[in-house]
Amino acid sequence: MTALVLFGGGGDLAMRMLLPSLYFLEHDGLLPEGLKIIGAARSEESREEYVGKVRTAVEGKAKADDAWDDASWSRLEARLDYLAVDATSAESLKPLKDKVGPGACTSFLAVSPSLYARIVTAMRAAGLAEADDKVVLEKPVGRDLDSFREIDDAVADAFSEQQVFRIDHYLGKETVQNLIALRFGNVIFEPLWNNLSIDHVQITVGETVGVGDRWPYYDEYGALRDMLQNHMLQLLCLVAMEPPSDLDPDSVRNEKVKVLRSLRHVTDEDAERVTVRGQYVSGTVDGTRVKGYDEERGADSDTETFVAIRADIDNWRWAGVPFFMRTGKRLPEKRTEIVIQFKPVPHSIFGQDARDDEAANRMIIELQPEEDISLTVMNKKPGLDQRMQLQPIKMSLSWGVGGKGDAPPRRRIAYERLLLDALNGDSTLFVRRDEAEKAWEWVDGVSQAWADGNVKPQPYRAGTWGPDASDMLMARTGRDWNTQE
Ligand code: BG6
Repeated sequence: MTALVLFGGGGDLAMRMLLPSLYFLEHDGLLPEGLKIIGAARSEESREEYVGKVRTAVEGKAKADDAWDDASWSRLEARLDYLAVDATSAESLKPLKDKVGPGACTSFLAVSPSLYARIVTAMRAAGLAEADDKVVLEKPVGRDLDSFREIDDAVADAFSEQQVFRIDHYLGKETVQNLIALRFGNVIFEPLWNNLSIDHVQITVGETVGVGDRWPYYDEYGALRDMLQNHMLQLLCLVAMEPPSDLDPDSVRNEKVKVLRSLRHVTDEDAERVTVRGQYVSGTVDGTRVKGYDEERGADSDTETFVAIRADIDNWRWAGVPFFMRTGKRLPEKRTEIVIQFKPVPHSIFGQDARDDEAANRMIIELQPEEDISLTVMNKKPGLDQRMQLQPIKMSLSWGVGGKGDAPPRRRIAYERLLLDALNGDSTLFVRRDEAEKAWEWVDGVSQAWADGNVKPQPYRAGTWGPDASDMLMARTGRDWNTQE
């Protein structure tokens, strides 16, 4: 008998993501036999009350996906249990250990990271950090390298690195994994995947939502620490890494960490040239008037809700190929994409301007709103024109298209993959300590340069793609952000 303990089991992450994911895994018959799922949180409530809340959280999502059925719910319900605990007290965790029993236990810390160190210490004392046990840590672990190390040292006192699963939910997204398949499961891309053929890479994570009620958390972190340190650097690593020799956790993570090591540090002199900080002011998103960040927060703040950065990777493969990243709240669209912009042909025989971006191949790896990987190639415009005319054609390289016409499979919550992998002990899609350290080190350099140069966020109207400086960041290099759908 094994157990999954959800610390913060009644909180937002558990109710919105983790428990619905567990329902879907149950529905698809993927949960390990005999697995108990124990919600552990502060509030004094009965198992029945907890189960009722879980059902409400799960049912809506499952019905929206046409995946609700009573039998799956009954099976999940039978696994569920609840215990009110103070997770920072070993004494209070003893009854939890009794409920877990002698089997292996995976604990998911879906609580404020400021509690991680005390919780793992209490877990160790309560016998919840035995050799077969595992711990899953939700981001953000720390807000800079020093605070990360402080927390992680406490984790390392209780668990060995193999037992620690640092989540970055972007790694659980299907298209992110498909990127690995595309790069290393085909022979046709890898020879071109370097500075001879690629002009630049763009990574955009645009969100329409504002910070709203999350500001007490957000104000301490900002877009740089909330999105760039983790999700966006992980995407960059997967695009830029060398082929690993296999998919073993350490083979993949060794390659990712090499990329992070090669990232050029942002110096004080460079800060204004290669970074942009922004903060939304009131505007219109999706036809609705929305408040500015300071209005939501109720006071002025220097926290950035938008960041754009040019990153350079100092190695042979990527020398001279800039990686542009931008992310922000209250942008016009929920859109996450990686754009691989290839170089134009060296000489056009068609009379078109060979230097025109439109005439160069472009791969778009779209994570949201749709999941798709597409490649734009030039084709002949049909017809009898005297001079051959070209037109760009976008080919989809993803599942569901070009297959037997099957409908694409249900879009999974990224946590489904990650929960399953953590339960199975596979850490390939989790972040290793040295990776997190290197990512913090680079991000600390950026925030230090901002502090030294007194770089403040520039205002941008909600519903726009950030401050003008973001377009300038590209324009200065003769490029622009992708607008192709
Ligand atoms: C989280 C951030 O990690 O990712 C949020 O804390 C952000 O601020 C979210 O909204 C975005 O995730 P997704 O999967 O919706 O792109």
